[in-house]
Amino acid sequence: MIGLGCDHSGYELMQEVKKHLDKREILYQNFGCYSKDSVDYPDYARQVGHALQEGSCDKGILICGTGIGISIMANKMSGIRAALCSDCFSAEATRLHNDANILVMGGRVIGVGLAMKIVDTFLDTPFSEEERHKRRIYKIEHPET
Ligand code: RB5
Repeated sequence: MIGLGCDHSGYELMQEVKKHLDKREILYQNFGCYSKDSVDYPDYARQVGHALQEGSCDKGILICGTGIGISIMANKMSGIRAALCSDCFSAEATRLHNDANILVMGGRVIGVGLAMKIVDTFLDTPFSEEERHKRRIYKIEHPET
């Protein structure tokens, strides 16, 4: 299950993401927002992050204008590894190396065609399971050690 969240600046691109996931018959839970009316992006990062933390979703997609604010918020949450991607190479690498569990995109940054390829790359690439990457992720998850 993919958790979806966006603010007003990401609303239009998120409509395309939903259509794309529907076409691929990938299940998602939409946490809003639900229109182009101005909202606060941290509220949507928080809801998607909680869904991953409690296990009702295993991955997420977040979109704001730049993708920056919403990823800063998501990455403050324990267990969340949110990756802001504007290219397919990064989307693939962040799954292989970082086991990123949330894809973040900037609705004002990239076009629909590229965004859908990034979504596919992110969702279709498994974590490498390599020891060195597991070790690094462990260090991310335990920053005080
Ligand atoms: C909203 O205007 C905009 O600040 C937001 O979507 C995002 O780009 C923040 O990082």
